[in-house]
Amino acid sequence: MKKSLIRPCVVGLGYVGLPLFLKLQNKISTVGYDISDTRVKELKFFLDVNGEFKKKDLVLKKKSLITSDKNLLKFCNFFIVAVPTPISKKNIPDLSHLKKSCEIIGKVIVKNSIVFFESTVYPGVTENFCGRLLEKKSGLKLGVDFFVGYSPERINPGDKKHSIGKVVKIVSATNNNTLKVAKKIYKKVANKILTNKNIKEAESAKVIENIQRDLNIGLMNEVYKVCVNSKINFSNVIKLASTKWNFLKFDPGLVGGHCLPVDPYYFSNFAEKKGIKTEVILSGRKINNSMYLYMYNKIIKDIKNLKLNIKKSRILVLGLTYKKNVSDIRNSFALKLYRLLKKKIKYLEACDPFLTKKNIKNIKVLHNFNIDDYELILNFVNHDLFKNKILKIKKTNKKYLNLF
Ligand SMILES: NC(=O)c1ccc[n+]([C@@H]2O[C@H](COP(=O)([O-])OP(=O)(O)OC[C@H]3O[C@@H](n4cnc5c(N)ncnc54)[C@H](O)[C@@H]3O)[C@@H](O)[C@H]2O)c1
Repeated sequence: MKKSLIRPCVVGLGYVGLPLFLKLQNKISTVGYDISDTRVKELKFFLDVNGEFKKKDLVLKKKSLITSDKNLLKFCNFFIVAVPTPISKKNIPDLSHLKKSCEIIGKVIVKNSIVFFESTVYPGVTENFCGRLLEKKSGLKLGVDFFVGYSPERINPGDKKHSIGKVVKIVSATNNNTLKVAKKIYKKVANKILTNKNIKEAESAKVIENIQRDLNIGLMNEVYKVCVNSKINFSNVIKLASTKWNFLKFDPGLVGGHCLPVDPYYFSNFAEKKGIKTEVILSGRKINNSMYLYMYNKIIKDIKNLKLNIKKSRILVLGLTYKKNVSDIRNSFALKLYRLLKKKIKYLEACDPFLTKKNIKNIKVLHNFNIDDYELILNFVNHDLFKNKILKIKKTNKKYLNLF
C-alpha cells in the first residue's frame, strides 16, 4: 500500500476513538464511523457528551467525515477499531461489540486492507477472534489478502499531561509491511512509536499495565482499612514509607471506570482457559470491588460520631463520576455508594458539575450548592471545579469529610 493511497477509518468514536479521529483528520482525510446515530448526530452538532472536546475541536477538516452509514466504509483501507470491550455480569469478557465491528468491516475490506484494534482485549483476540471473523465475512485470507495489528490505547480521560501525542504508542503486527504502513499512520498522531512484531505481547502488555495499577491500589485499600481500624494515621504511614527509595506510592480509592475494574477479568479468564488460576490478580479485584461497602459503613459510623441524625440532617455528596474531572459514570463506585447511602439518609443530595440529566437517571444532580444549606459535606470525587468551594468550607466550622 503506497502512502498516498492510505484511507483511514476510525471505528467507534468514544473516549478512545474520537481523540484519535480528531488528531488523524488534521493530517489525512479520515472517516469516523460510529454505530450510534445519536453519537454521530451530536458530534455533527459539535457536542461531545463525554465532555472531552469543545465545539471548536469538533470542526471537521476538509474531506474528513463522521458517519453512521457503514456503506461509506468501503472507501477506506486502513481501519482502527476502538469499540467497547466490557465484561458480563459474571465477569466474562464480552466481545460482542468487536464481533459486530468485524462483521461490518469484513463486508467492505478489499485486498491489502489493514485492520488495527485499539480495544483492550486478552492475548489472541486480534488474530484468532477478530482476524477469523474478518476472514469469514470477507472471503479473504488473513496474512495473505488482508492484515491485522494491535495498538493498545493508553488514554487517560481528564489527564491532559498524558495525551495521545505525548506517550509511547505501541504498534504491533506480525508482518513488516503492515508495521511500516501502520507506523506512517500512527506517526500522524503520536510522537513516540514502539513497534513490536508479536501481537499477543502487545495485547498482554496493555492488560497488565492496568492490572498492576489495580493491585497496587488494592494493596493501599487494604492497608487503609487496617490503619483506620487500629487508629493509626494512614497518611503519616505512607509519608514515612515513601522515604524508602523503592517504595511505590499509590493512593487508596474507589476503583471504577471502563478499564481497571474490567481488564483483570480479561487476563484471568484467558489464564483460566490455559489452566492457570490467577489468585493474585483477582484478589485486587476482590478488595477494590468491596471498598464502597466498607466506605458505606464507615460513613454511617462517622455521621453518628459527628452527632448528626441520619433521619434529619441535610447532607451533600460532592462528585459521582468514577474519577475526578471526567463525566464518565461507567462502573462508578462513588455513584454506587451514593445510591446505597440514599436508602439510609433521608436528606441526601449530590452535586456534580460534570453530569447532566442525560447521563444520570433517577438522581437529581446539582451543579452548584450553598454551603449553608447542609450540615455535612462529603467529598467523594475531588473534581478541580470543587477546589474553591472546599477552601471556603474549610474556613468555616462546617462538618466536612473526605472519602479517604
Ligand atoms: N476510556 C478509556 O479510558 C480507555 C483507555 C484505554 C483503553 N480503552 C479501551 O478502548 C475501548 C473503547 O473504550 P471507550 O472508552 O472509547 O468506549 P466508549 O463507550 O466511550 O466508546 C465506544 C464507541 O463505540 C461505538 N460502537 C460500539 N459498537 C460499535 C460498532 N460495532 N461499530 C462502530 N462503533 C461502535 C459506541 O457507540 C461508542 O460511541 C475499550 O476496549 C476500552 O477498554 C479505554
